Amino acid sequence: MDQSFSLQPLEKTFGVVVTGLDVRNLDEETFAALYAVWLDYSLLIIPGQHLSKSEQRSFALKFGDLVPGLEAVEISNVYPDGSLRDKPDDDMMKIIRGNMHWHQDNTYMPLQAKGAVFSAKIVPEKQGDTAFADMRAAYDALDETTKQFISAKTAYHSLAHSQAQLGEETKATASEYSGYGLDVEDTPLRPLVKVHPETGRKSLAAGRHAYGIPDLSSQESDRLIAKLNAFSVEDASRVYQHSWSEGDVIVWDNRCLMHRAMPWDYSEPRVMVHSRIAGDEISEAAL
Ligand SMILES: [Fe+2]
Repeated sequence: MDQSFSLQPLEKTFGVVVTGLDVRNLDEETFAALYAVWLDYSLLIIPGQHLSKSEQRSFALKFGDLVPGLEAVEISNVYPDGSLRDKPDDDMMKIIRGNMHWHQDNTYMPLQAKGAVFSAKIVPEKQGDTAFADMRAAYDALDETTKQFISAKTAYHSLAHSQAQLGEETKATASEYSGYGLDVEDTPLRPLVKVHPETGRKSLAAGRHAYGIPDLSSQESDRLIAKLNAFSVEDASRVYQHSWSEGDVIVWDNRCLMHRAMPWDYSEPRVMVHSRIAGDEISEAAL
């Protein structure tokens, strides 16, 4: 192993700060050790990396195949010409505002994402944090009656539905936003309890895209999903909010964490780079 890194666990049920590592140059043994830490803690925070897009793509590829089109994309309030997206009906901003509600990536696609590498290129003076929630700990903390009740329950997941719920309808075509995820033909149905394919741990799986639990009325379903989502994040030990410094790299396990963006002053630029790791074709497939 050519790099010996140090770990500083967060005072949370998950998450660890990793130092002493340059993620551009990882030999197999070092990466295997880092991957094991990732499975254990679900969230790696690696400061001071300042990756180019191609370096980020190479690092993300070590975790698995990447979702086509999302290998290393900027998520920002800045147009390619450098001006700010300040129109309230800007489709990209609608998606960014939608993602300020707790969710897991790609649950509305046939394959839920495995995880993501996310890094900060330009951060605003203040705010613009990203928050994460440990859905393993949330599941563990449920009372037995609820665990029983949801054990065989499922929910539909839809981006078009969740954006509409928030009044942030986004066009699937003729839009600056690519329409990614808005034109899914068969709405995925997913269990409310997800078993992690590598650790075997159970986690709660709802979030903003979930709705329409079969066998429940739509009111009962909405109530249950809202209750589970609120419960997931009510205990501070299960939630971590990251305040970004430029050059930070975060890797999250999307199979057992929820996340959300946080607001900032949109007159300031914020540029993040996102690499989405594709889910396994069996364990992350919809039912
Ligand atoms: Fe997301």
